[in-house]
Amino acid sequence: MKVLALEGSPRRGGNSSILLDWVLEGVEEKGGQVTRLYVRDLEISPCTGCDGCQVAGECVVRDDMDRVMTLLLDSDHLVVATPVYFYHLPAQLKALVDRFQPLWGRRVLLKKGLPERGKLLLVGVGATRGERLFDGVLLTMKCVAPFLGLVLVDPLLVRGVDAVGAVRDVRGLKGIAIKKGMELVTRG
Ligand SMILES: Cc1cc2nc3c(=O)[nH]c(=O)nc-3n(C[C@H](O)[C@H](O)[C@H](O)COP(=O)(O)O)c2cc1C
Repeated sequence: MKVLALEGSPRRGGNSSILLDWVLEGVEEKGGQVTRLYVRDLEISPCTGCDGCQVAGECVVRDDMDRVMTLLLDSDHLVVATPVYFYHLPAQLKALVDRFQPLWGRRVLLKKGLPERGKLLLVGVGATRGERLFDGVLLTMKCVAPFLGLVLVDPLLVRGVDAVGAVRDVRGLKGIAIKKGMELVTRG
């Protein structure tokens, strides 16, 4: 099982990064093969809405998104780890997600979408505790999963963590995260 992991926080070694470490520990424990990309280190231009992909079937812009797409299409599962930034994704990760537009075109316009092949696991953190904290992020993941040929599975969402490393103080969380990773590559 190949798992592509996108580390979406601009903050190095932060809460979503630590949670992702644990999830991927579980993946590897069960023999999954992990490729981890640090979105903050990639050069990915925002989508300009040029509609070039609707003609070419792929994005006309050449940058690190080429690598993301190649790895994504070669993976069984995808893990996206992110903090909430004003009820949504950090800008760098949102830019990457917007560049999935060619896959939307393939499915919706050309009716040649990717077949369902694996799972998408969202790992999210936020400082506050409101019930709707992850609504924006979840809606986006729910929207893109079918274009990627993935099924959105029960996410790992942690509220009330702000300072770097705060996730380490949440009792039992490491075990839950490792189990999530194991389930990703073993269950159904
Ligand atoms: C620009 C910015 C916007 C944020 N917006 C929210 C928000 O809307 N709601 C919230 O609960 N936390 C918000 N936070 C706090 C982060 O989600 C929180 O610190 C999280 O633990 C950071 O995760 P990381 O360590 O993986 O970067 C924001 C932080 C930043 C820097």
